Amino acid sequence: AVERTLSIIKPDAVAKNVIGDIYSRFEKAGLSIVAARMLQLSREQAEGFYAVHKERPFFKDLVEFMMSGPVMVQVLEGENAIAKNREVMGATNPKEAAPGTIRADFASSIGTNAVHGSDAPETAKQEIEFFFKPEEICPRSR
Ligand code: CMP
Repeated sequence: AVERTLSIIKPDAVAKNVIGDIYSRFEKAGLSIVAARMLQLSREQAEGFYAVHKERPFFKDLVEFMMSGPVMVQVLEGENAIAKNREVMGATNPKEAAPGTIRADFASSIGTNAVHGSDAPETAKQEIEFFFKPEEICPRSR
């Protein structure tokens, strides 16, 4: 089925100047960018977005990292977009990420890992709503 998923290019990858390279990987995988915005997250936004990880030992570091510079947030649309994006990203820990994936090529650690992608349909919906109003999403005519 055609799905949408929320993708974030994290501060480390924005700083490496590889937004275009990462967008190209999405497009080559059959994913279309149907909404996008660059912003620097406030503490409130970073904590809110990752609220599910509040009790984890890495939460504070995660929030500080996500606030450390601008991020690109985008909605990706396509057949099986959630799983396809996770495939293109590679494993959360770059040491375990398959060769040729975004994290294998650009991530430096499990915390500093270049990209985020929604992990399931329900979280995709919540995460898209966190950043975008319905009218900011431009579905691709097909
Ligand atoms: P992400 O997909 O953005 O969702 C939660 C993030 O928490 C994850 O990517 C990692 O960057 C981060 N994370 C997960 N586990 C750890 C960990 N053990 N140490 C630091 N950061 C982590």
